[in-house]
Amino acid sequence: MCGIVGYVGLPEKSGEHQALDVLVEGLRRLEYRGYDSAGVATVSGGVVQVRKKSGKLGNLLAEIEAAPVGPAQVGIGHTRWATHGGPTDVNAHPHVGDSGRLAVIHNGIIENFAQLRQRLLAEGFEFASETDTEVAAKLIGRFFAGEAAGDLTAAMRLAVNELEGAFTLLAVHADAPDRVVAARRNSPLVVGLGEGENFLGSDVSGFIDFTREAVELEQDQIVTITSSEVEIINFDGTPAQGRRFYVDWDASAAEKGGFPTFMEKEIHEQPKAVEDTLLGRTDAEGRLVLDELRIDPEELKATTKIIVLACGTAAYAGLVAKYAIEHWTRIPVEVELAHEFRYRDPIIDETTLVVSISQSGETMDTLMAVRYAKEQGARTLSICNTNGSTIPRESDAVLYLHAGPEIAVASTKAFLAMIAASYLLGLYLGQLRGQLFSGQIADILADLHSVPGKIQQILDDAEQIKALARQMADTPSVLFLGRHVGYPVALEGALKLKELAYIHAEGFAAGELKHGPIALIEEGQPVFVVVPSPHGRYSLHSKVVSNIQEVRARGARTITVAEEGDEAVQDYSETVFHVPGTQPLLMPLLTTVPLQIFACALASEKGYDVDQPRNLAKSVTVE
Ligand code: F6R
Repeated sequence: MCGIVGYVGLPEKSGEHQALDVLVEGLRRLEYRGYDSAGVATVSGGVVQVRKKSGKLGNLLAEIEAAPVGPAQVGIGHTRWATHGGPTDVNAHPHVGDSGRLAVIHNGIIENFAQLRQRLLAEGFEFASETDTEVAAKLIGRFFAGEAAGDLTAAMRLAVNELEGAFTLLAVHADAPDRVVAARRNSPLVVGLGEGENFLGSDVSGFIDFTREAVELEQDQIVTITSSEVEIINFDGTPAQGRRFYVDWDASAAEKGGFPTFMEKEIHEQPKAVEDTLLGRTDAEGRLVLDELRIDPEELKATTKIIVLACGTAAYAGLVAKYAIEHWTRIPVEVELAHEFRYRDPIIDETTLVVSISQSGETMDTLMAVRYAKEQGARTLSICNTNGSTIPRESDAVLYLHAGPEIAVASTKAFLAMIAASYLLGLYLGQLRGQLFSGQIADILADLHSVPGKIQQILDDAEQIKALARQMADTPSVLFLGRHVGYPVALEGALKLKELAYIHAEGFAAGELKHGPIALIEEGQPVFVVVPSPHGRYSLHSKVVSNIQEVRARGARTITVAEEGDEAVQDYSETVFHVPGTQPLLMPLLTTVPLQIFACALASEKGYDVDQPRNLAKSVTVE
């Protein structure tokens, strides 16, 4: 939530980057994190200039055009997802302190802001906004003018030690014109290293146009950047070091690349996202090697229970993981929404492996659940797409996806990559525990490697899905049914439709239908059914065909996603989307794709912004 960018360049000279251009470029890339309002503050000529505006970045740019800021080499920028105070001009960041000579931006929630505000009001401070951020601005300003004696880093340190909650704060001051000072607790912040210039960003996309050299910060640290130096200290004032890393994708990966939207681009990148996630994870003998796991194989072998923690789409990937990992390893797997997990006194010990799944690596609910699991003695493993993010850094082990940056707010390619990574984990554990023979693993891996080509086939053949979406633009409600690994796919299909097209949509386990949801079926109700492979076990296929008949008999319009060659569904489906076949457990990598295309096309037909759906933010860094 909220995108944050900071910049310090060389003293003003022609030809160098101007702070405003760097900030605007950074905000453009970070806008997916929040788009309720945007603002910048630049420092030059002994003054701080602030421009801010509610609405998307375009509104801020119009504001700057109407009231330009002068050339500057130092500045901060913010794109907001509102928490405290509505998305108005006044509540937009930056907020000012110290008589307008200090500007502050913030991501997170300051939990004790009400008490601090009361105290500051009693001291005579006045507030223009309803935000918790303004409290931080006044506090930093007060310390700067007093105890910290004009040292912005010291003022930040004194202030953050009074704050509770989650925050990334960035501050600039007219009387410290060569620097940006930032602090982080439970909220993301990365440093970008340039030549004669340095950057700050909520994530690396905030500065990816300018540098791929980055530094990851630890929890409770303050960083001061000037054009030539990056100095990190802990909240207690002791010096600290960050971890340097190189960003393995470039700015072009974060462009639309000829597609009208990021969402369409990312849906089309799925063959590569899956392929790259599988890449380089076997040795010459075809054995899985997950070196980056960093947990002693003996400890992994001793795992008695796996708990998968995630939210939203990532949790649906976790549900798919459960089916596969249990089947291949015989280790019981629980999947739980991270925000529910730690409030129910879960049973965990050192033989529990807690697997968190997160695209951003910053989801606060997931992070808090991982910390809780660690405190209880569990081993923690993160499946994550974002290098330099908090969850993998705090976990004992990490299995990175290699899906590339996901910019569209609703997740698509990361979902498939998460599923692929979960399969790798399941196979690896099966291999370690001797539960799977090497031939079995090789067969499954071979099938996995053939999946990207099959996804491509679905993408190449998407016109039928898009045509149906156009035709269904006025539909008020859609239901999704699935069984076994098709169940999480149904949940994900419904979530995509809610998020992108603002249509009421529900996903159900098809077997649950007759226990209640069938009451929703009336004449003309569209029902998508994810049909299991006719070659799978347990006669699931015929059970689902019965479910299709049950809803059809009550007037539903049945739209099925079925394996090529599955003739049985034909007679009971108004429309069938055929997908190529693969092993039943791997089918979600294929059956999800038509549902994503459908939701995206339907939302586009309704004229909605599929990259930035209303009320959402890409990275949910508040609880
Ligand atoms: C849905 C979506 C969200 C995220 C969820 C977790 O399209 O994107 O439901 O999946 O907020 O986010 P990460 O994976 O970043 O932890």
